Amino acid sequence: MRHFLSLYDFTKEEILEIIDLGIKIKKEAKVKNYIPYLQNQSLGMLFEKSSTRTRISFEVGIHQLGGQGLFLSSNDLQLGRGEPMKDSARVISRMVDMVMIRTYSQNILDEFAAYSKVPIINGLTDKYHPVQLLADYLTMIEHGKEENQIVAYIGDGNNMTHSWMMLAGKLGFELRVSTPKGYEPLDEIIKDAKMLCEQSGGTITYTNDPKEAVEGVDVITTDTWVSMGQEDEKERRVKDFKGYIVDDALMSRAKQDAIFLHCLPAYRGYEVSDEILERYSDTVFDEAENRLHAQKGLMVWLDEKR
Ligand code: CP
Ligand code: NVA
Repeated sequence: MRHFLSLYDFTKEEILEIIDLGIKIKKEAKVKNYIPYLQNQSLGMLFEKSSTRTRISFEVGIHQLGGQGLFLSSNDLQLGRGEPMKDSARVISRMVDMVMIRTYSQNILDEFAAYSKVPIINGLTDKYHPVQLLADYLTMIEHGKEENQIVAYIGDGNNMTHSWMMLAGKLGFELRVSTPKGYEPLDEIIKDAKMLCEQSGGTITYTNDPKEAVEGVDVITTDTWVSMGQEDEKERRVKDFKGYIVDDALMSRAKQDAIFLHCLPAYRGYEVSDEILERYSDTVFDEAENRLHAQKGLMVWLDEKR
């Protein structure tokens, strides 16, 4: 049995296999051919943080695969009143066939997985957001950006940055990360990503100058400056991230046919200008939709592996 906790645990071939399965299932779904690959299976969806895309895509996804999703908010579970995660894991995983979790620490997710009888999917932690990257790469493929692309990530060194670093390290492409001083990715992830790049032929560079990072790239991506759980730091962050907005000036330094990606939700006027988000709405909202298709691929893949 496999869990999907981080891209680190997956080979390049496995990541591409999952995405290919997502593409195949997307094609079927587009002609309303909803094949019940997971008939009568239940997916527990445990949320300790807010969500629009993750919740809807997993709930609709499991339904289209012939199963059912259970939305479990930690506020309504005994978990929220202090029942230990390891007990919740043992109870929930005896009743459902797969569990998706959105939580704070990656350790909580690892603990749940260690006590679970069924596959666990990371639906976002403070450290990683790997399901988002499946959708992002699927979107890059659809927009002709899968071969030798250069990706620039501009903004906060957060769960999205870490996930891009893992993807670049696994697939072997060039990633340029530009964050303000003090907001760089975690050292342990820089180290892991470097090791992965040595194996795959990928390159990851780090700079505090966003202009330098986007020069001639194929894809520019960013994420909120204030992640869930950091609301108290908003004022300071908005000051510290000045100059890191993806706007016309920055976008014009990329290749002429470059695309823009954003995992959403977007905060216009902060990490991205309204103009750029609207101009690239085709890729950004394809990316949002692809959460559904990529995760259906993932659930079917995980089910096949047990
Ligand atoms: N991108 C993403 O995970 O969105 P939600 O927070 O709405 O799930
Ligand atoms: N970095 C953001 C991603 C939201 C999908 C957060 O963790 O809030």
